[in-house]
Amino acid sequence: MTPDARRYKGAGFGGGRMAKPIYVLNGPNLNLLGAREPHIYGKTTLEQVRALCENRAAEFGRKVVFRQTNHEGELIDWVQEAREQASALVINPAGYGHTSVALLDALKTLSIPIVECHLSNPAVREQFRRHSFVSPAAAGVIQGFGPLSYELAVDSALRLTGAVRTA
Ligand code: DQA
Repeated sequence: MTPDARRYKGAGFGGGRMAKPIYVLNGPNLNLLGAREPHIYGKTTLEQVRALCENRAAEFGRKVVFRQTNHEGELIDWVQEAREQASALVINPAGYGHTSVALLDALKTLSIPIVECHLSNPAVREQFRRHSFVSPAAAGVIQGFGPLSYELAVDSALRLTGAVRTA
């Protein structure tokens, strides 16, 4: 087991019927996935991404709470909710990742594993996308694999909680 997995494994995270769901939170403009700059973000819709996340979590016997918002305060409210309600958090902060100190502050209050996720690879795009306010609070970042980024992020986050594949 890696040091990160040891850090997060604990009451409520370990699995079983009572395990809390994993939260997958999406920031602004991701509701337009499929139509928005498809040459960058692809043609898969957010509903299809939701299904990918649910299927991957189901392999661990876990449920997903999957949400999207265009509002910074709402995203922060959901991060705070995840403190109590989630076993792990996957977040694609979208544009707020590059701008929001408040989002970082909220994420730093969580003790569950956080995985930052991006469809595109911001490291090879514009300079302003190279800084993330989310990364300092994340156990890791998965970016550049399109919808597969989400599947890998759900998988990684659940493994960090000590969850094991049941299917
Ligand atoms: C994104 C990358 C961000 O730079 C951008 O603002 C987004 C989407 C991605 O998933 O590739 O809205 O987070």
